[in-house]
Amino acid sequence: MQMSKRNLLKLTLLSSASTLLSCKLKNLNKSKFFGEKNMPFELPKLPYAKNALTPHLSENTINFHYGKHHQAYVTNLNNLIAGTELEGKSLEEIIKISAADKTKAGIFNNAAQVWNHTFYWNSMKPDGGGKPAGTVLVKIEADLGSYENFVTEFKNAGATQFGSGWAWLVLDSGKLKIVKTGNAETPLTTSAKPLLTMDVWEHAYYLDFQNARATYIDAFLNHLINWDFVAKNLS
Ligand SMILES: [Fe+2]
Repeated sequence: MQMSKRNLLKLTLLSSASTLLSCKLKNLNKSKFFGEKNMPFELPKLPYAKNALTPHLSENTINFHYGKHHQAYVTNLNNLIAGTELEGKSLEEIIKISAADKTKAGIFNNAAQVWNHTFYWNSMKPDGGGKPAGTVLVKIEADLGSYENFVTEFKNAGATQFGSGWAWLVLDSGKLKIVKTGNAETPLTTSAKPLLTMDVWEHAYYLDFQNARATYIDAFLNHLINWDFVAKNLS
């Protein structure tokens, strides 16, 4: 049967519409895919199992601290930078840019907390803590007097950080120093290089130690510090 001109035109239009729809769907999938890919920050994997730090830090604490708090900082950061000039920049770049711009305080808080927490998880290991050996001990004795003095100063930094914050061992102008920072503040925005950190936000210890921050600090010093991580950062 011979096709009329009108039917041929209809068929051509239908075929074009079908091709267009197919392209649109493909593009939709593509844009969704790239949209997800442009959410660059993911919760980094823990360097050990969630129950590996027991009995000093429970799996329950890790589930909340890592699985809820750290994850929330990652999610918030991705949401805050989506579609801004910060999207696609490294975490360190975002921290430095937002630290210098008071209008970006929310971005700074979440970006710095993502970085600080990742550094914190790596600052601990199962069966860690106690007196270090090798180059780390030599450096501590040279710059801080003795391991015992390091313990005293580090405990003091953690205990006297009013409210939420962090205690750090840093390398500043070639010398070890112990510093503390409030809330999300991080030595990354200073000239000092972080070597070790301890989270003293209540969410870090409250489930296991309630308000006994000093007992948590003792557990961190005696059983959790990853001195191999410190040595790697120092080298
Ligand atoms: Fe924390």
